[in-house]
Amino acid sequence: LPLHKVIMVGSGGVGKSALTLQYMYGDFVEEYDPTKADSYRKKVTLDGQDCQIDILDTAGQEEYAAVSFFIMREHVGRYLRRGDFREQISRVLDDDSVPFILVGNKADLANSHRKVTKEEATAKAAEWGCPYIETSAKTRLNVDEVYTELMRKIRAR
Ligand code: GTP
Ligand code: MG
Repeated sequence: LPLHKVIMVGSGGVGKSALTLQYMYGDFVEEYDPTKADSYRKKVTLDGQDCQIDILDTAGQEEYAAVSFFIMREHVGRYLRRGDFREQISRVLDDDSVPFILVGNKADLANSHRKVTKEEATAKAAEWGCPYIETSAKTRLNVDEVYTELMRKIRAR
């Protein structure tokens, strides 16, 4: 079956694991349990075709970042160093054409909790040349859309 490898990267506590678990199991995890590194695989249907998705959920917390980097490096078998998230991935994969999606999560929270404006996020996505999608791991808003869109981009490479 065609395999689509997805890597979740971002700062600690933004909801990388919650999005992954919502997508994988349809459950929202309320507790915050910082990730070291986890990977998940499942069979999915993409536009009527059976395929697989493999999600590597990395650590956002500094104290676990080294572990995550080690695992990412093992995952792709190449050297990497820290930097911009987007730059990191392109460097790890030694490939500028890696499909990305910039995700703004926790869209269910009131606007007063917003850390990044829509304008800032849209500008960053334009700089990176990728889509920007707002999600909620709590209400499942756009969760399937993000992974489906990524798989389509991966398939189209
Ligand atoms: P690290 O593993 O440390 O990098 O963090 P993470 O990005 O995986 O964050 P995690 O998914 O563990 O979520 C952190 C906290 O935010 C948890 O308490 C989640 O329940 C909460 N959370 C995640 N996504 C959402 C969301 O969409 N809405 C709300 N309201 N809370 C969320
Ligand atoms: Mg996590």
